[in-house]
Amino acid sequence: MGLANKHIVLGVTGGIAAYKSAELARRLRDRGARVRVVMTKGAEHFITPLTMQAVSSNPVHTSLLDPDAEAGMGHIELARWADAMLIAPATANFISRLAHGAADDLLTTLCLATPVAISVAPAMNQQMWRDQATQDNIEILRKRGILILGPAEGDQACGDIGPGRMLEPDELLAALSGSFRSGMLENVKVVVTAGPTWEAIDPVRGITNHSSGKMGYAVAEAAAENGARVTLVSGPTGLPRPDNVHTIRVTSAQEMYDAAMEETAAGDIFIAVAAVADYRPATAAEQKIKKRSDTLTIELIRNPDILTAVAKRGLLFTAGFAAETNSVEMHAREKLTSKGVDLIAANLVGGGEGFGTEDNSLMLIDKTDTKTLPRMRKSLLARRLIEEIAERYHAKNPTQGPR
Ligand code: C5P
Repeated sequence: MGLANKHIVLGVTGGIAAYKSAELARRLRDRGARVRVVMTKGAEHFITPLTMQAVSSNPVHTSLLDPDAEAGMGHIELARWADAMLIAPATANFISRLAHGAADDLLTTLCLATPVAISVAPAMNQQMWRDQATQDNIEILRKRGILILGPAEGDQACGDIGPGRMLEPDELLAALSGSFRSGMLENVKVVVTAGPTWEAIDPVRGITNHSSGKMGYAVAEAAAENGARVTLVSGPTGLPRPDNVHTIRVTSAQEMYDAAMEETAAGDIFIAVAAVADYRPATAAEQKIKKRSDTLTIELIRNPDILTAVAKRGLLFTAGFAAETNSVEMHAREKLTSKGVDLIAANLVGGGEGFGTEDNSLMLIDKTDTKTLPRMRKSLLARRLIEEIAERYHAKNPTQGPR
């Protein structure tokens, strides 16, 4: 699944971010994709066709009207060869030409000639990106179903700060593989827990943590995108209910446990992303506790471990998260065994990492292997995680699919 054996036409246009296209092509090949690069004249000012040929292991296509190139693989053939087209970087000028249906060079012609999905990764000066003309063009592309990947915000090569940076190669890869939205999890019931829990001390106070729920929500969405029937059991978060996901809102760990047990009774995959409070007050006061003494002792008792309990049920696949501040892999391996799950997705938290942030990286640990998913936006990371889970799920349950 994912990008393996996919035919990708990588279009490169003339922006400084073109230097990242070489890395992108290499990473696509690492993921098992076959890559053919098409460069505009402008792109050749930033990176040579020879570089792109070396990293893609295929001749680079630069001209529409070159009889020799057309004799090799003509533009119509190339358009048919593709499973997807990715234009990275896409300049403001290219976006404008694409929006207006131009066919005055090889890349724009291919975009018209191909029936497959086109993804565009804009890269330009922040003011050019903000300009109404560019925004209108982007809107036209979106309406046509073209995927717009990014841009990211940050320091720009021209010295400005703002939106217009091309997404990093790994983020583009994740988005691209997500665009091959397969029925990888068609008819599979996936239950996801997300967010923090709230353990009441009295009617107005409680014990909770900084989990934002973003990762769990993104995981639920990614599973739904891949055809799964998804139930999300969510602790208190400010996030909207994701599309196509049955969301059950809970407050305490006990409520999360009850909902998760009920939903997994007929579930196939369980993914525990929630940051569940390990302890809760032994009793929650019925009235607000008054400050009468200098010290106050609250007795805490253990909450049930939801993941361990669900794993014991013998679901087809279970995965948990491990948020660690140190020795990530070691602690995650311990968790894999002690909780009896198929996969642990571990990440570093604290020092600005993990909770509440927009991006993250993950170390995937199963019985045989350790694999790292590099830092990227949580939504993209979630798609990659779902891909990895779906592959392992089907490998473990060959009779179940691929469906
Ligand atoms: O033991 P620890 O809390 O570090 O394990 C984290 C993993 O276990 C996460 O996947 C979390 O959702 C799950 N967990 C759970 N119920 C608990 C505690 C943790 O499902 N009470």
